[in-house]
Amino acid sequence: MVTVNKNYLKLQESYLFSNIAKKVGAFCEAHPGEKIIRLGIGDVTQPLAPVIIDSLHKAVDEMAHAETFHGYAPDLGYEFLRNAIVRHDYQSRGCQIEADEIFISDGAKSDSGNIQEIFGLDNKVAVCDPVYPVYVDTNVMAGRSGSYCEKNENFHGIIYMPCREENGFLPEFPKEVPDLIYLCFPNNPTGSAITKPELQKWVDYANLNGAVIIYDAAYEAYISEEGIPHSIFECEGARTCAIELRSFSKNAGFTGVRLGFTVISKELVRDGVRLHDLWARRHGTKFNGAPYIVQRAGEAVYSLEGQIQLKEQIAAYMRNARVIYEGLKEAGYAVYGGVNAPYIWLKTPDSMTSWEFFDYLLEKAKVVGTPGSGFGAHGEGYFRLTAFGSYEDTKEAIDRISRL
Ligand code: MLT
Repeated sequence: MVTVNKNYLKLQESYLFSNIAKKVGAFCEAHPGEKIIRLGIGDVTQPLAPVIIDSLHKAVDEMAHAETFHGYAPDLGYEFLRNAIVRHDYQSRGCQIEADEIFISDGAKSDSGNIQEIFGLDNKVAVCDPVYPVYVDTNVMAGRSGSYCEKNENFHGIIYMPCREENGFLPEFPKEVPDLIYLCFPNNPTGSAITKPELQKWVDYANLNGAVIIYDAAYEAYISEEGIPHSIFECEGARTCAIELRSFSKNAGFTGVRLGFTVISKELVRDGVRLHDLWARRHGTKFNGAPYIVQRAGEAVYSLEGQIQLKEQIAAYMRNARVIYEGLKEAGYAVYGGVNAPYIWLKTPDSMTSWEFFDYLLEKAKVVGTPGSGFGAHGEGYFRLTAFGSYEDTKEAIDRISRL
């Protein structure tokens, strides 16, 4: 008889953003013609930059001729893209990363979910609380947790590192030493950022304890302040303890195009094995490469024109972030984030739970956000809004909320 992977049964019924989409869908059906403003899921709204569109068109044309046609991409990515990444994202920041330490993929969500496969099931996993749900759910699916504890709203066997207002929404070293530590900075969902000296402490801690940090830097393009690292490889010793995940979704609007990459240095060894080699083996077996046309689009991101055009896109989203931050502050809300990240994290008013506030905003302002408790027990009492909407919608949403 066929049996199923019982670990899946430990998970809550559906993924956070699917849950929200269902709720909003039902609301729209019940209120036809109402204009709903969606500042929930962190999905971009601006079209791809002209230089990226040009590059896509050109690559599509190449696919139409036998001489320039491309079939399977190299497992680990085309050299032209890996070289551009290394030059622009790493060497220009003084990070010692080589092109063959970059693994091109179809996005950071896949990588952040898949990376746990190369580690043993007996590893102790630590995550921030609140946290991007993918890190937890994929470890639960793999069997690296116990059952879900309704009372504590978390999984047995996972180490949760509370990120609270009083510590700037940064985690502290947990009591129990973990093996795998997931960190995401600038942070989703709180919008907090970590300084280089603070991140250095985590790198030192991981090296001291033989742990591995899985560092999600998907939002690095939103860093506006000095002293905030764009990559964990800016820290000394990161090559021997860190894996970095990067995305083209938020910095270049590729949410519907799909492209990302993982960086694993050849010096990262655990259990006598180079993790680089395991990930290469996994990638080569389970992935046939990101499409040629998409990798060419990725290359355009690093062109001079690309950098200029994308700077404008990010500036537009960050203008929205300011509208949300300042508008809510003026309306009396306690607000965080929004300076080095496209997320604004706010305290729900009048002791409402996160989901009560979600319903209240949807009902009264027709604005969709994300309940903080969906990201973990310590997200309860908080709410996330994204800066990825249009300027007009963002302004209208904040006007509506302010009038409540
Ligand atoms: C979010 O809203 O947290 C993001 O869209 C998640 C993601 O990038 O997958």
